[in-house]
Amino acid sequence: MIKVGILGVGTVGASVANILEENADIIEARAGKKIVVKHGVVKNLSKDRGVNIPLSDNVDDILNDPEIDIVVELMGGVEKPYAVVKKALESGKAVVTANKALLAYHRYELQEIAGDTPLMYEASTAGGIPIIGAMRNGLTANHIESIQGIMNGTTNYMLTKMINEGAKYDEILKEAQDLGYAEADPTFDVGGFDASHKLLILASIAYGIDAKPEDILIEGIENITQTDVTFAKEFGYEIKLLGIAKKVENGVELRVHPTMISQNSMIAKVDGVMNAVSVVGDRVGETMYYGAGAGGDATASAVIADIVDIVRGNHGPMLGYKKGLEGSGLELLPEEEIVTNYYLRMEVDDQSGVLASITRELEKFNISIESMLQKPHSNDERVKLLFTTHKCQEAKIQEAMVVLKKLDCIYGEIAMMRIEK
Ligand code: HSE
Repeated sequence: MIKVGILGVGTVGASVANILEENADIIEARAGKKIVVKHGVVKNLSKDRGVNIPLSDNVDDILNDPEIDIVVELMGGVEKPYAVVKKALESGKAVVTANKALLAYHRYELQEIAGDTPLMYEASTAGGIPIIGAMRNGLTANHIESIQGIMNGTTNYMLTKMINEGAKYDEILKEAQDLGYAEADPTFDVGGFDASHKLLILASIAYGIDAKPEDILIEGIENITQTDVTFAKEFGYEIKLLGIAKKVENGVELRVHPTMISQNSMIAKVDGVMNAVSVVGDRVGETMYYGAGAGGDATASAVIADIVDIVRGNHGPMLGYKKGLEGSGLELLPEEEIVTNYYLRMEVDDQSGVLASITRELEKFNISIESMLQKPHSNDERVKLLFTTHKCQEAKIQEAMVVLKKLDCIYGEIAMMRIEK
């Protein structure tokens, strides 16, 4: 019999305990051994957790229990779970974690500490979708060319409602929180940080890139307006908050930002709280994974898959490789060197010569306009100008925006969104 201890019996922890009990027959058949939860640890013992397992409020009740084989870490946070997971691994206990923030900051140290002791984390990325298993095992023969995905359900729900129903930002954020998908601090969702944690985990498996959230380009959905939504619709785009990892000539691009993508692409059709990840391998071509990115049972499904793999002895190295990947070593491409197409939105005087002065400035940066739309403004003397550009370098568009903002004919901030073709 295998004994499990759960640190953090919230929504996911309670689902783990209940599924292990309710689906015990098939789980035992698949694992080859009976798996029981011996103990759970919570912060607040007075709250009813809806589980049939003994609870206490002291992590040492699990860490110091020699009978517990597998520790499931569902505490949240970064430094406290790091100390706890380290202690569990050092005492030879296998660990399963759903904690993406912990891994975004400490995955390489934990890999070192774990050595041959299993440390599994399927639930950390895209909830119930078995993307970690797919990348560590199923795609192991491939050089990964790109990963592109909707890795945050809250923002996908919000964007879907904004685009399909014209819903207001604050109201839908509240709705997403009520659905139980949003992080305790929703700025993690809307600011793109939650998605960045997941992207960094995938980028380590695919490319061996040891970066932290602070090292990569992260933008949230806070500044998207109905004007952007209208433009996207008219030009055949959908707006999605994407996590993108892409191998290019000089390194690997890692970025999270709202993105205009063709309405015909599969990812564009992923609506509501669902997640989807497309991975392109050099041999297999494009593969795509879709499913619930959060929620108690969906996330617990991934946690239990890890427990079963550990019991079967199927775990392998934490990041899927023992030595460095890609012989020459792939480096994170500096943000300024990213090359893509851009969308710009600005408010300008409705006068002759305005367009000419804008394109004159863009020409100085060698930025070429691909399409353009003019929309009325509430002030009759102004209009909204919306452009897309041909491919150019991030540094050029950023510099051009600074120069454009200084023109007398342009008012307020210039909004920018990246386009993926
Ligand atoms: N807040 C996350 C989301 C939960 O909305 O997808 C899963 O990490």
